Amino acid sequence: MEQQVVFTNNICQAIEDFTNRINHDRLFILFDTSTIRLCMPLLVPFLNKYESAHGGQKVHQIIIEATDNAKTVESLTEVWTELSTHGATRHSLLINVGGGMVTDLGGFAAATFKRGIRFINVATTLLGAVDAAVGGKTGVNLGNLKNEVGSFAPADAVLISTAFFETLDHDNLLSGYAEMLKHGILSSKQHLSDLLQYDVQHWTSDSLLPLLEYSVNVKRNVVRQDPYEQGLRKALNLGHTFGHAFETWCMQNRCPVLHGFAVAWGLVCELIMSHQQVGFSSEMMYEIARFVRDNYGPLHFTCDDYDALFELMKHDKKNEGDEINFTLMSEIGTPALNHSADKEQIGVVLDIYRDLMGI
Ligand code: GLY
Repeated sequence: MEQQVVFTNNICQAIEDFTNRINHDRLFILFDTSTIRLCMPLLVPFLNKYESAHGGQKVHQIIIEATDNAKTVESLTEVWTELSTHGATRHSLLINVGGGMVTDLGGFAAATFKRGIRFINVATTLLGAVDAAVGGKTGVNLGNLKNEVGSFAPADAVLISTAFFETLDHDNLLSGYAEMLKHGILSSKQHLSDLLQYDVQHWTSDSLLPLLEYSVNVKRNVVRQDPYEQGLRKALNLGHTFGHAFETWCMQNRCPVLHGFAVAWGLVCELIMSHQQVGFSSEMMYEIARFVRDNYGPLHFTCDDYDALFELMKHDKKNEGDEINFTLMSEIGTPALNHSADKEQIGVVLDIYRDLMGI
């Protein structure tokens, strides 16, 4: 299950190294309609070199829609069909170039096509680099249910180049940064403090890179110990029980938010719950809430929305039986897994969240 993760400032060379190393008969590249426009131009030197080194054999490009709404069984079928009609065999190689939507869907397409072909993820967003591309979770959504169908299938390699982040807008940068905050809370006071002090509004690739490398390694360490989420990996769900409910609620109310924004608000809620249930420090909780409020702003809702949020949490696939499952933190670096809360306790957390966020 161990994945190679490579940070590089020469993405063409890194792709060439891995395509040389992985035996394959045909090469396919999956883009979405954004990454074909913004990222493909950076890969042209590799594509030209590859095609001339392989007697002019074309690298077949597959393009899917660029929204999370496209992470569907229909898009998956399109990818399988493209692979099939362009001669992919069990020995073909797929390179997924994109954010989480592309690496999740492309990874699942590769994991299932002819019972599995090898694939490489080239993460082009901060969120993809720090979370989705790494760790072997692949899948697609089913209606409103996120990642409802999928498998554990590690990429042969995950390639991360901050050159792609130059085209990210600030909100997408913040979206990835929320998962970095989560890794900070899960790892150490020092790393968390570096993240809280980092001037995320004026980020640069150079200054972000050391924080990103550390953050990716936090995730890799967890995945190495528990690749199939039998125990410790549940720690990576911190912020996501509330977070997924917020994300779906926003989508249903036609005001969609980026995943990381929902996670940032979810982290605040789950740290409030951590304080109440397992003694997480209130100072730390306030400090993180302040960072989230200042950088992400608040999510606006009222107590009339609590029922809807509670219903969404009940459908979270992390639950077992009728209990709503939460990953909490007793202190920075010490997760407390498999906690549950009832409707009343969740309502109290939402009340405090609204207070802390000033809404
Ligand atoms: N995104 C959480 C995990 O990969 O387990």
